[in-house]
Amino acid sequence: MAQLKIYKFPEPILKQAAKEVSEWTPQLYQLSRDMLETMYAAPGIGLAAPQVGQSLRMIVIDCRPRLEDGTIDLASMTALEKKIPMPLVLVNPKILEKKGKTIFEEGCLSVPGFYEDVQRFEWIKFQGQDVKGNLFEHEVDGVLSVCIQHEIDHLDGKLFIDRLSMVKRSLIKTKIQKHGYPSQNNESKDHVL
Ligand code: CO
Repeated sequence: MAQLKIYKFPEPILKQAAKEVSEWTPQLYQLSRDMLETMYAAPGIGLAAPQVGQSLRMIVIDCRPRLEDGTIDLASMTALEKKIPMPLVLVNPKILEKKGKTIFEEGCLSVPGFYEDVQRFEWIKFQGQDVKGNLFEHEVDGVLSVCIQHEIDHLDGKLFIDRLSMVKRSLIKTKIQKHGYPSQNNESKDHVL
């Protein structure tokens, strides 16, 4: 396994729509392992292939809440979240159905140090493939639903700051252009996707 470089806004790859995966190679499996290692090390709860410079429709997620001692806090997970095995690797993910609205404070490994409330669908039904190409389908809500929507946005060349008001977005972009990113303080935030 290897940790990969995380691309940050305004790297052009983050603005591109990623390519559908059609070959189920050992390299694809290896990339999924490396993405997980990179995500855990960051630390973050989700990562999309374009964030590590690969224009491929693959995302990895592990948004299980943890207690101080590192064990998983099952009580904070929804019934639907508990049904989905994590870490989750999703290739060619698609949202099939969606409903409701929820607001969650999001951050992003590609826009480090910035956190804003973003509105998403509360519940989604989605499909995806595993690294061998097997198709599966689930419905989910809670943080996992938010996380999947945030990561699919990455595959479509969209960042969470693109979902903010124009005023908020240009404020953040101006700050980054003028001062760069805040120096790495690696605060252990549980909502960096
Ligand atoms: Co992100």
